Amino acid sequence: MSDDIYKEIILDHYRNPRNKGKLTDPDISAQDNNPVCGDRISIDITLKDNVVSDIKFDGEGCAISQSSASILTDMLMDKTVDELSKFTKDELLEELGTPSLGPARIKCALLSLKVLKIGTYQYLGTELPEDPEN
Ligand code: FES
Repeated sequence: MSDDIYKEIILDHYRNPRNKGKLTDPDISAQDNNPVCGDRISIDITLKDNVVSDIKFDGEGCAISQSSASILTDMLMDKTVDELSKFTKDELLEELGTPSLGPARIKCALLSLKVLKIGTYQYLGTELPEDPEN
């Protein structure tokens, strides 16, 4: 895909975010912010038989951080908790279009994945790895 198509996808998710909002009584819930800019993402997940049955994100910030959360939450529907814990940054960046993202923007893109990992590891009761986005 060309860079322009990737930019269009990002802008579309920014203007029309999928899965935006909060869940009542989620099984997994976490939030974090980018300390450099203050952008913020929270993710709520409801599980049924260990599989994602509902997922929402909320937050504010740049187009990349918010559209990445929208795209990520779309990708996680019907995944198992084990798949959530193993979800890689490459899977997300591929969907977002890495060619158009410089190093500073990659941090924006990975904020939602970090929040997912924080919530999933808390749910599993295991320690967050040092590089949680991997
Ligand atoms: Fe803050 Fe992108 S500028 S996450």
